[in-house]
Amino acid sequence: MDVAGILTIMLSGLWLFLPAMLPNSAAVIFGGGTPVDFGRSMKDGRRILGDGKTWRGLFGGALSGVLLGILLIGISSFWDPSDYWGYGPFWSNVGILLCLSFGALFGDMLGSFLKRRLGIGRGEKFPVMDQYDFVIGAFIVTGVLFPHWVYGNYIEGWNILALLFLLAIMFGVHRVANNVAYRWGLKDEPW
Ligand code: CTP
Ligand code: MG
Repeated sequence: MDVAGILTIMLSGLWLFLPAMLPNSAAVIFGGGTPVDFGRSMKDGRRILGDGKTWRGLFGGALSGVLLGILLIGISSFWDPSDYWGYGPFWSNVGILLCLSFGALFGDMLGSFLKRRLGIGRGEKFPVMDQYDFVIGAFIVTGVLFPHWVYGNYIEGWNILALLFLLAIMFGVHRVANNVAYRWGLKDEPW
């Protein structure tokens, strides 16, 4: 494997994962209204998920990820009409996009669930979990429904470098995205 091959693996791994990265940011824009837990608390007296997880954020965020994915398929079909540059044939690619974007936000909700159980309030920091919950959610949901796709792109042989690359850059990507959202007045905290 030469340098160009390794770069291709890492960049296409990032490209394919973009539909999982957009939903969190899009949820900040579309979010608001009824919370996913409908305001309910658990026996520990704390909210199940909290006011930071809303239905509008979930569906607005996830559908933004799917639309971005369709755009990426459109762009890549110009030079690779056979494979849509990695998402595979129609229906399986729609399925993968749905798994990546909804999986990301399910992971985000699981993160909030764990934060509440640990007594960490909405919007308070929970290092590592805040940055990686959506990555874990996206890989679990996509991995269960499309195991060959995840294995082929992120695990098999040198492709593991794509996964390691994603994990390495996600901390910085998350920080920058939240900082921008904070500066634009979309978020209350810069993390
Ligand atoms: N958001 C939403 N619905 C979602 C996810 C996010 O409405 N399913 C919006 C909320 O306005 C939320 C913002 O996006 O405040 C930022 O998301 P995030 O940082 O994940 O939520 P926090 O407010 O920090 O809450 P938590 O502590 O539960 O993570
Ligand atoms: Mg937060």
